[in-house]
Amino acid sequence: MADSTATRVANLYVHVPFCAQKCVYCAFYSEASSGELVNRYVAALIRELEIVAGDLKPKTIFFGGGTPSLLNLRQWEQILRAMEKLNLLGAEEFTVECNPATVSSDKAKLLRDFGVNRVSMGIQSLDEKLLDRLGRIHSREMAFKSFDILRSAGFDNLNLDLMFAIPTQTMEIWRATLVEVAAMQSEHLSSYEVIYEDDTPLFAQMKAGEFDVDENLSCEMFEELVTSATRAGFQQYEVANFARDGREGVPPSLKSGSPTQRPSQVQIPSLACKHNVNYWRGGSFYGLGPSATSYVRGVRTKNWSNTQLYCEQLENGKRAIESTEELPPLRRAGETAAFGLRMNAGWPFSEFQRVTGYDLRREWSAEMDQLTERGWGNISSDNFQLTPQGLRFADTAAEMFLR
Ligand SMILES: C[S@@+](CC[C@H](N)C(=O)[O-])C[C@H]1O[C@@H](n2cnc3c(N)ncnc32)[C@H](O)[C@@H]1O
Ligand code: SF4
Repeated sequence: MADSTATRVANLYVHVPFCAQKCVYCAFYSEASSGELVNRYVAALIRELEIVAGDLKPKTIFFGGGTPSLLNLRQWEQILRAMEKLNLLGAEEFTVECNPATVSSDKAKLLRDFGVNRVSMGIQSLDEKLLDRLGRIHSREMAFKSFDILRSAGFDNLNLDLMFAIPTQTMEIWRATLVEVAAMQSEHLSSYEVIYEDDTPLFAQMKAGEFDVDENLSCEMFEELVTSATRAGFQQYEVANFARDGREGVPPSLKSGSPTQRPSQVQIPSLACKHNVNYWRGGSFYGLGPSATSYVRGVRTKNWSNTQLYCEQLENGKRAIESTEELPPLRRAGETAAFGLRMNAGWPFSEFQRVTGYDLRREWSAEMDQLTERGWGNISSDNFQLTPQGLRFADTAAEMFLR
């Protein structure tokens, strides 16, 4: 294991596999919790942190799930104190995902005191009927209240997570949610179109013909999202992610994609999620907790998606790894290209070469030409990026780069 600070991994993800109740659309690995299993998980996670700590110097930390905010004060304190002892605190960006129903001022204060400086809150919608439809445990009032609690605890970097193209959601309802969200003045916004994941109740309902999926309406809702977020002062920097730019002294033309700006000059806003930017840019990261993936120096490992088994393995002093994969370099570079193209900034050729060792213009020139001809891509002397239309179909475009 490397021991020099310069080569240590700078990004840490921790998966918390518990939710109060499963939402009808969600395929993330999580389950309704029993207190005993959560305590066992906390102890196992601390073991896993101890095992990898020597190879970590976190610049970004992200606790996701599941519902990290479901852990109680004592459990959080145990984890954070262990991280403090292992010298893992002090990250530039430390995010915790919260469900609005499980935010309290005591928890917010504890997190803040230990250096958590960003919270991502899953509000999904501000329409009461849709929240019910999705199986959410929170109400619209809770979303506003929890947002205020977080602000009062001193969080000045908040993300709100939304979903669109929810069955029965009309354009009027979507617009109303977007207007109310803009008024909340968060620093960041993520919004995904509903994905019909296998083995979820929502997927079964769709298969049973309980509602129609209207692709045109989904496209219009995505356009509405981009327009409304831009009007509210956000800059889109990835297909589904929008952030404010808090930098002072940056000319407006460089801040938010003005018409005079050359496409290759698109900058990533300063309040973008640095942790996710590292994923999209093909960087290394440790992923701890059940089901989490790590990607460290070209090797991808995946932990067991089974909390009992995860705990058992760590109780026996082993990391709970289910699979290890070392991708051939060209395949890895193709995946890195595909991920990075989800970002509005696309890929500066020099950066792609630095990260992967490959020249995008040499290996993928036919694909870039094809996308450019279709109006989905934009190529310049130093950069390739998707156009707004290409970003709408980013998954299809990205697939072309996989080898
Ligand atoms: C782990 S959850 C966020 C934190 C917390 N568990 C919650 O839901 O409040 C991550 C986000 O992924 C999105 N998501 C999950 N499943 C999805 C699906 N099937 N389609 C679209 N978005 C989904 C939701 O917006 C959700 O907020
Ligand atoms: S969306 Fe969030 S709260 Fe709902 S089941 Fe998934 S992880 Fe849990």
